Amino acid sequence: MEERPGDDRQQLPPPSLWPVGFAVGVVCLLVGLVISWPVAAIGAAIALVFGFLWARDVTGRPTAAAPPPDEAAARPEPVTGERFPRSRFLEGATLGLGAVIGAIVTLPAAGFALLPGFLKQKAHNVDLGPISDFEENKWKIVTFARDVTNPNVSRRTAFVRNNGLLDGVPSFTVISNRCAHVGCPVQPGGPVFEKDEKTVKTDNGDVLITPVLPAAGFICPCHGGSYDQEGNRIAGPPVRGLDRYEFDIVNGRLILGDLYSVLKVEGSGKTAKIEKVELHGPGQHADGPESWLYPLQPPH
Ligand code: FES
Repeated sequence: MEERPGDDRQQLPPPSLWPVGFAVGVVCLLVGLVISWPVAAIGAAIALVFGFLWARDVTGRPTAAAPPPDEAAARPEPVTGERFPRSRFLEGATLGLGAVIGAIVTLPAAGFALLPGFLKQKAHNVDLGPISDFEENKWKIVTFARDVTNPNVSRRTAFVRNNGLLDGVPSFTVISNRCAHVGCPVQPGGPVFEKDEKTVKTDNGDVLITPVLPAAGFICPCHGGSYDQEGNRIAGPPVRGLDRYEFDIVNGRLILGDLYSVLKVEGSGKTAKIEKVELHGPGQHADGPESWLYPLQPPH
């Protein structure tokens, strides 16, 4: 717009793309918190860069059109003029104060809401009783409380097989019954001998042990997921095999440790080769490009 003599109106600042980039970064950050840490990190970086450019633009922007050089030279130096106009100071102060108040209000709430789910929490070890209750090469359905102080909400089921001795040490296969699709309890593909059910008293409360013959592996009733006896997925929508429990033998008793996920099991029993990965949630891919799209998992 051409400036006419006597026209002392301030020129409007040119439109800026920085706020748009900042908003895109914030959206990317929020979406990333839900789906993936790398996406959240990219969003944070975009928001920081564009936020910085926006702030620099706002605080460094001239408030009036600069006069032509010869006109400026001809004009006498203002004696008492404001070098930093009050309006610019108020604009910057308002933005800064708003950002500080927003951070104070938002960050603690977001931290309390989001962080606990992503922090590793140690699972309780569980005593399943004497290993003499598990005959060699026989499967058992074992139901136990993961946390004895909260038995009703921590009840779990595993399929346990005593594989015999490996290098003089008892070997067990302990498979979780949680389907790797969306977490339904899988069922053994074979008869369950309920009349031979047994309850073992342990420090973790009652452990229920039921003999079973999963000749056809394990089957999920929800959507038809199917697994072999080692927990490998053989059909249906599950994205990987069944999770397993770590175990230890202490004073002749079988002690369960943490859960872990499995990519593949080759072979069977005590000579099986297990491709072990850290625990993943139901529906979560443990390998391949799909695995990048999921966030860290809360404890199970
Ligand atoms: S939950 Fe098991 S197949 Fe869907």
